[in-house]
Amino acid sequence: MAIRPFKELACPLDGEPLVQEANTWRCTQGHSFDIARQGYVNLLPVQNKRSRDPGDSKTMIVARQEFLVAGFYQPIADAVAGVVLSGADPSAELSCLDAGCGEGYYLRQLVAHSGSAYSGASHSGASHSGAGQALNLMGLDISKWAVQAAARQDKQVTWAVGNNANLPVLSATLDYVLCMFGFPVYGEFLRVLKPGGKLLMVDAGADHLRELREIIYPTLKAARPPQTQPPAGFTQGETQQLRFTVHLPDAQQISNLLIMTPHLYRASAEGRAKAEQLTELTVTVDVRLSKLVKAQHAADPNQQ
Ligand SMILES: C[S@@+](CC[C@H](N)C(=O)[O-])C[C@H]1O[C@@H](n2cnc3c(N)ncnc32)[C@H](O)[C@@H]1O
Ligand SMILES: [Zn+2]
Repeated sequence: MAIRPFKELACPLDGEPLVQEANTWRCTQGHSFDIARQGYVNLLPVQNKRSRDPGDSKTMIVARQEFLVAGFYQPIADAVAGVVLSGADPSAELSCLDAGCGEGYYLRQLVAHSGSAYSGASHSGASHSGAGQALNLMGLDISKWAVQAAARQDKQVTWAVGNNANLPVLSATLDYVLCMFGFPVYGEFLRVLKPGGKLLMVDAGADHLRELREIIYPTLKAARPPQTQPPAGFTQGETQQLRFTVHLPDAQQISNLLIMTPHLYRASAEGRAKAEQLTELTVTVDVRLSKLVKAQHAADPNQQ
């Protein structure tokens, strides 16, 4: 399946379409955004930044990248790619935004799966090939470190620094939004999706990383129950629970897992010290994939 340039970028200052001229994206009002050396564009205006260096730190990004490329979450990537590609129309382009993409692992995996799908040897067993079928992919994160790392590793996806609360994307243009272990802003996701477009949420389940949490916390908090009502403008699609165990063979990968999650900051000094003693660990991965579908006649959230 071909990967084509993402065409739905909008100016973060006025929402006008952005057009690429050489190494710059420009809107009709004269705003321009240069493409950085690493191949990403910064669409987070300084006035919209709440802090000087928002989002995940460089240390968190490095840890997450080292953990993810080792393949520990491969079944999650396979499941996400399976869901997105199985919804692809064989004769059309599918545009997909990963909102809070981190260092881009899941979009790289989606590209890899779409390639194998084209050759007819799809991982999920389904056939996704077809004339005219293509993916337009965009990864966005508020962390400059995340987007830099993503852009270094892939040149086919459009990578941008930006905010889920003010997506630099034209209204009603996307088939899919992914929000994985992220910070959903449902009104914005609704705005950028086409009617019938889908939001795929991936969130931690009750047993996610239980063995690690049992070590670093004195008692485990009860899990937050999944939302029973879909957010305004969406209907609930299929949900899928994914559960497997991973064996972390050394202290480095245990440390990476701690650093890439909020647990490092929430754990007590005592809990962190216990984790530092570990030389291997088997943990349960328990995540929920939940598809939300934009209603055909959802009201424009900006007109309410
Ligand atoms: C837990 S990480 C998940 C990253 C990636 N989805 C993954 O699963 O590997 C959450 C990500 O959301 C980003 N983030 C936080 N607030 C954001 C916002 N308002 N808009 C966009 N990204 C945001 C962080 O910088 C971080 O990279
Ligand atoms: Zn503009």
